[in-house]
Amino acid sequence: MALVIRRLEEHDEVENFDCGDDALNNYLKRHAWTNQQKSSIGVSYVALDEDAPRTVLGYFTLAMASVPRDAFPKKYVRGLPPYDLPLILLARLAVDRRFTGRGLGHALISEALRISLRVADEVGCRSIITDAYRDRVSWYARYGFVPVEGAAVTGPQRMFLDVRTVRAALQR
Ligand SMILES: CC(C)(COP(=O)(O)OP(=O)(O)OC[C@H]1O[C@@H](n2cnc3c(N)ncnc32)[C@H](O)[C@@H]1OP(=O)(O)O)[C@@H](O)C(=O)NCCC(=O)NCCS
Repeated sequence: MALVIRRLEEHDEVENFDCGDDALNNYLKRHAWTNQQKSSIGVSYVALDEDAPRTVLGYFTLAMASVPRDAFPKKYVRGLPPYDLPLILLARLAVDRRFTGRGLGHALISEALRISLRVADEVGCRSIITDAYRDRVSWYARYGFVPVEGAAVTGPQRMFLDVRTVRAALQR
């Protein structure tokens, strides 16, 4: 499979997308295009096979966010002013379950990190955050995401990754 990752386009085929999670399926089918094109509150990127260049196999969505400084571990924010920290939110990420385990998730998150670095070079932002499903925490940890301690004990686990860590990793 020759994988392509690019911005979501209006006529991409999303109706058959099934990652096994209704909320993530529904976001792609009902909201991703409007949020990107009309509302400007999230940009989605899709993974496609070059041979079927409209069929979405996986996607992620990025948005800007800010989080109170006190929400982060003290050692992480030491020396920073008492402002909310500007961040990039990895708002959604999913792979169609017929295509999991083939590295699509890896390709998507790698692209999300590359885009985040480009943004961080142009606009101040300290880290990338995501609200990970509990059973996906170890998957994100593979990429260096760290749980935010003291976050809610039920529901998704907030995790963050410092852009400087990503930059250092990509330069190696
Ligand atoms: C999580 C998800 C994105 C992974 O996508 P994928 O294409 O299967 O990922 P990759 O093929 O790049 O990586 C698979 C690897 O991750 C591992 N993995 C899969 N789920 C994992 C989990 N929950 N915790 C830890 N590792 C996990 C696999 O064992 C495999 O390991 P290997 O590389 O050593 O063989 C995909 O399963 C998915 O979309 N799930 C449903 C939606 C979802 O949960 N999204 C995340 C919302 S927070």
